[in-house]
Amino acid sequence: MSISLTLNGESVAIDASPDMPLLWAIRDVRKLTGTKFGCGVASCGACTVHVDGVAVRSCQTFLGDVEGAEVTTIEGLSGPVATAVQGAWKDLDVVQCGYCQSGQIMQAIDLLTTTPKPTDDDIDTAMDGNVCRCATYVRIRAAIHEASRRLEA
Ligand code: FES
Ligand code: FES
Repeated sequence: MSISLTLNGESVAIDASPDMPLLWAIRDVRKLTGTKFGCGVASCGACTVHVDGVAVRSCQTFLGDVEGAEVTTIEGLSGPVATAVQGAWKDLDVVQCGYCQSGQIMQAIDLLTTTPKPTDDDIDTAMDGNVCRCATYVRIRAAIHEASRRLEA
């Protein structure tokens, strides 16, 4: 069965079961390996992508769920919020091993899109499901505030 969707701005038809996790389709079928597998049960956030602009866990989203939708992975980011977040991440040296970071960035962009000036509590709530085994949480929070300042300027 073929599932049609827009992936990083390109119309694609993925020949796979509608029950295939979106993460599998992204990584194994489309070879976009920036999105990571962590837990597989929606508990770590490593696999976060955007579906119609909203952060979702691609390990627990199925290909059939995204028929006709717009899916964006870390490789397809564009626009002012993504630019601000990626710039702040780089300048504040957020990343340690990097494994969780594409998911962290996708989640942070979702937060700043809906809440351009988040408080610490807003950040902690929004980022709560994104685990970092290197404990970069303090730098993630600082980078989200920095991205917010850049968007305001
Ligand atoms: S791999 Fe999807 S939330 Fe952990
Ligand atoms: S930077 Fe290593 S898991 Fe987050």
